[in-house]
Amino acid sequence: MSTVAPLPPGPRYSNPLQFAKELRPDPLEYYRRMVKEYGEFGCVHTWPRKIVWALRPEHFRYLMVENAEDYPKGNAFDRLKAIGGDGLFFSDGELWKKQRRLIMPSFRRSAIKKYVPHMTAGASTFVDRMEARVGDPTFDIVPEMATVAMDIACRAFFGDDIVERANTLHRALWDTSEWVDHAMTNPLAPPLWVPTAINRKTKRAIATMYAGIDELIRDNRQRGDTDNVLARLNHLVAGGEMSEQQLRDEMWTLLNAGHETTATTLGFAFALLSKHPQALERVQKEADSLGGRTAIFEDRPQLGFTYRVVLETLRLYPPAWSTSREASVDHIVDGFLIPKKALLQPLLYQTLTHPDIWENPETFDPDRFLTERSRGRAHEAYPPFGLGGRRCIGEQFALVEATMVLATFAQRLEFRMEPDFEVVAGIMGFGPIRAMSGIEMTVHRRAGRVT
Ligand code: HEM
Repeated sequence: MSTVAPLPPGPRYSNPLQFAKELRPDPLEYYRRMVKEYGEFGCVHTWPRKIVWALRPEHFRYLMVENAEDYPKGNAFDRLKAIGGDGLFFSDGELWKKQRRLIMPSFRRSAIKKYVPHMTAGASTFVDRMEARVGDPTFDIVPEMATVAMDIACRAFFGDDIVERANTLHRALWDTSEWVDHAMTNPLAPPLWVPTAINRKTKRAIATMYAGIDELIRDNRQRGDTDNVLARLNHLVAGGEMSEQQLRDEMWTLLNAGHETTATTLGFAFALLSKHPQALERVQKEADSLGGRTAIFEDRPQLGFTYRVVLETLRLYPPAWSTSREASVDHIVDGFLIPKKALLQPLLYQTLTHPDIWENPETFDPDRFLTERSRGRAHEAYPPFGLGGRRCIGEQFALVEATMVLATFAQRLEFRMEPDFEVVAGIMGFGPIRAMSGIEMTVHRRAGRVT
């Protein structure tokens, strides 16, 4: 392919530390500024490589769907492998293809149906815990969201129902994510083997994680479970299709990728519902239509609005505000060159509130996802779960899980936020979008609930 085309427009930094200094305090704001100044398809001209940003659905389709093979995860994620191993999130090429093919059946609709009892059991435990806090002063619900999401992940992935274990794993994961934020934004961060304070803490957390995972795997095999993800993957190990080490890496990855994102989504969903009483009433009405019984997979059509609340929460607060890819060849897009080795930075969060795509983009309006209001919207315009072959494997799991938790909670309880409390969303380092302010709420028994 010809390489005579110019690079996309954008800022120039001869000193990469200057770029890091400008980017680091607030990457979301930095890229908002860059898009305003240079356009929706641009390039940070820096060293050791260019960073090309994109946000239009047609660019996502070309780069992440139609030419995905030319944009592997690449070495942008290599540093993270030091803690995450070679699980599905980080692997590339033939290993990724093989693992995705082996693991995908465990996240198809028919499999997810079997995990729903784990989701509702975790959700009920959470509701019991919250019921005990009725009458308490305001508290931050964010740690509670982490516990319920980790509890459900331990149940559905490992068949384990010990909340204490879930909490230990959550704390260890949190410690490793501090290192991820540090390593992704600090070009001079020393590799993990250098005994700095943060590296030592991270190594201790990794050891705790793997010990916990080994214990969960051992217990699962002793029980001889059937209806959880690990039970399915155990067959692949027994059949020689997956090694023990690969299984460990995959379970670590699923746990890591599959709990904080959902926890964050739940927290923001509860916050949005408390600010939008009419939406809350509709969620409660749907929960009441279950007649006081535990929700099952087949109830999803009855919980349609609750499901759309989850979709809308992810549009306004996408935990994964971006991802990255490495160009393995030159491509010319709209007359501009994306050079080999450039880092591709898809600005997913900007697409999700783009005024050309979304009517009143800042307004919370779950019904915008009704079929009749979604016609003509490009598939790539809604990327909170990524795009193309590397789209989130847990997408359906997460959507069903969040719907089940909201419905189970709404059957009995209600969170309320003080009218003057503002949730501040932001990121730490290069991590996911989180509620940096916490989410301060009180919890109440619902009047007129159906029991
Ligand atoms: C609201 C919840 C979730 C959000 C917003 C989310 C978001 C994402 C995104 C954006 C990607 C693509 C990353 C990229 O292209 O580089 C991804 C990939 C992935 N997610 Fe999720 N995720 C969620 C829940 C889950 C759950 C519940 C699981 C586990 C069951 C999971 C497991 C994974 C894995 C393994 C990958 C890598 C897939 C691959 O590369 O083949 N995620 N997720």
